[in-house]
Amino acid sequence: MNKLTLIRPDDWHLHVRNGDILKTVIAHTANQFARAIIMPNLNPPVLTVDQALVYRQEILQALPADSSFNPLMTLYLTSDLTQDEVKKAAESEFIHAIKLYPAGATTNSDSGVSDLKGIYPILETMEQVDLPLLIHGEVTNPDCDIFDREKVFIESSLNDIVKNFPDLRIVVEHVTTKEAVDFVLAASSKVAATITPQHLMFNRNAILAGGIRPHHYCLPIIKREHHRQALLEAATSGNPKFFLGTDSAPHLTGAKESSCGCAGCYSAYAAIELYTEVFDQAGALDKLEGFASFFGADFYNLPRNSKSITLQQQTWTVPATYQVNDKTITPLKAGEDLSWKLLG
Ligand code: DOR
Ligand code: ZN
Repeated sequence: MNKLTLIRPDDWHLHVRNGDILKTVIAHTANQFARAIIMPNLNPPVLTVDQALVYRQEILQALPADSSFNPLMTLYLTSDLTQDEVKKAAESEFIHAIKLYPAGATTNSDSGVSDLKGIYPILETMEQVDLPLLIHGEVTNPDCDIFDREKVFIESSLNDIVKNFPDLRIVVEHVTTKEAVDFVLAASSKVAATITPQHLMFNRNAILAGGIRPHHYCLPIIKREHHRQALLEAATSGNPKFFLGTDSAPHLTGAKESSCGCAGCYSAYAAIELYTEVFDQAGALDKLEGFASFFGADFYNLPRNSKSITLQQQTWTVPATYQVNDKTITPLKAGEDLSWKLLG
């Protein structure tokens, strides 16, 4: 097969930032996806419905003129979030979820939650108004090995959240371990997960073997090969609990290539091509459309898209960088060949 037509996909986990970076990256996403769940970890974070609506306007204004891309907004959960704000969010047609970052877990998560039990009243309201909770599932205890942080979060916190709020819709974001896949599989249909391209393509050697490769550093960190295999199996299984969420997280090249490089892989420039290559190599192209275009919309109770995109099997070389004014973003797989190209 050298051409593949899919219903237009959506990205259920995306960072687009604001300002100059936003202008560069949003065009890449809008070129492939109809909608995306926009992460609220700006600096300062998006805490209220009104702030999310302002941010939404900024995104719409940064889009190419002919784009019909629809940004689906989220709020950032802090211990100060009120039940009234949760209700207001649920009533807004533009707000689709609330994101939980354990404080200190990742980029711009300092305002996140340090006492999970303390936000249980908020989770109860979210359960009542049926607003999904999106979870960055990692413990932040510095004594916990960075490769174990997701597994320990499941054992120490996620189990309890799911037990206490059985009707709360939860997305375990960017799952990276077999333990997380097994957890989601065993949970009710209210619990789903997103999977990134980098966690499907790479194991942890990609960060550390032959030199330190900062453009493969993201959080949760990429794990061992048997975890990658579990993620691949989940993504290509046709199980609607698993759907596309790139976690594309642009940082300027200098912030990544540093003595303390920040976390995040920039994949939005070719996200659907990256996933297509992964599914092709797994012999599972027939499972791509469900994962990329159907299951996320179904989980979020949104209509499936009706327009389509077509990809062609064709080798092309990823640019070394993308320009942001006089600075650059280095994409995932910079300078390497990809085997599928989006035609439109
Ligand atoms: O690698 C990551 N980068 N993981 C996250 O959870 C946040 C993201 C970012 O915003 O840069
Ligand atoms: Zn993210």
